[in-house]
Amino acid sequence: MNLTHPVIAIYPGSFDPITRGHEDIARRTLRIADRLLIAVAYTATQSKKSLFTVEERVELIQEVFTGDERVEAVAFRGLLVDFARERNARVVIRGLRAISDFEYELQMAQMNRELWPAVETVFLAPELDYSFLSSSLVREVSGLGGDMSRFVSAPVQTRLKAKLGG
Ligand code: PNS
Repeated sequence: MNLTHPVIAIYPGSFDPITRGHEDIARRTLRIADRLLIAVAYTATQSKKSLFTVEERVELIQEVFTGDERVEAVAFRGLLVDFARERNARVVIRGLRAISDFEYELQMAQMNRELWPAVETVFLAPELDYSFLSSSLVREVSGLGGDMSRFVSAPVQTRLKAKLGG
């Protein structure tokens, strides 16, 4: 831990909802950063039909990380780099599950660097068990009655059931 110049990382995404894969990436980040902002975007690059509101997603992240003072869940509007600069977070974290993620991730990393040259994007690989996991699959499978307990934390599971029934 560097108290004079803490490393503040920002982990942006849609998190609709946060999965155990996201949690794994967040916990790995805390090995290399002092503080972590998990930032839910109002505007996502690849638009998807959302299940939870941005506010609900932030609440779920807060519940999942209750008790860990190094983690803050926030929502942001506008450009990621503007929000990151405002919060003095120069390290952007993204999880890289498979080669299929790579092109989209590299484009965003390069664009973010064009917009704010001081930012560095760091890609982290998730635990193998979560390498196929995505929020969109969680939404789909839970909507069809599948058990998601292995893939999302308890507060998320409860909220999924309340939202989707079952
Ligand atoms: O979980 P996602 O949907 O893959 O996350 C994408 C996200 C939210 C990180 C990206 O769309 C984003 O940064 N949105 C904020 C608006 C912005 O800065 N867009 C330009 C990205 S190069």
